[in-house]
Amino acid sequence: MSITDEQWAELHDRAVDAMKHAYAPYSGYPVGAACLTRDGRIFTGCNVENAGYGVTLCAECGMVSEMIKAGSTGIVAFAAVNGKEEPVVPCGRCRQLLSEHVDRSAFVSIPAGILPFEQIMPFGFGKTDLSEVPTSTYKED
Ligand code: THU
Repeated sequence: MSITDEQWAELHDRAVDAMKHAYAPYSGYPVGAACLTRDGRIFTGCNVENAGYGVTLCAECGMVSEMIKAGSTGIVAFAAVNGKEEPVVPCGRCRQLLSEHVDRSAFVSIPAGILPFEQIMPFGFGKTDLSEVPTSTYKED
């Protein structure tokens, strides 16, 4: 699925709107994330920090939660921005989180440009690794 310039612009704008709702009093680094799914919907999230620093939720966590709650999956495009409205590259944990829900041909907007998701997470651990374990409860759809 190819993503148009207009769709990337909309994802950026939606990420900026989400970023404005961030709760980031500890790092002072608000983040907003937005994704477009195969069904044409857009989901967003913002980071939510906590006095227990390790409890912090990245913007991607809220975005994925909103998407799953709405019954959607299959991310085809993803963008996140910081307080300067510049692209943010997903942290390691969020790459893992996203990898579960991205379409095969998903693209991400990061400071280095618009790249295939595969390029920012080669050789990732995923569902298929678990499906090889005889005791796994994972089932291929
Ligand atoms: N952050 C995100 O929300 N997403 C990322 O992928 C990178 C980091 C947040 C977490 C924390 O609230 C702040 O940015 C600084 O690390």
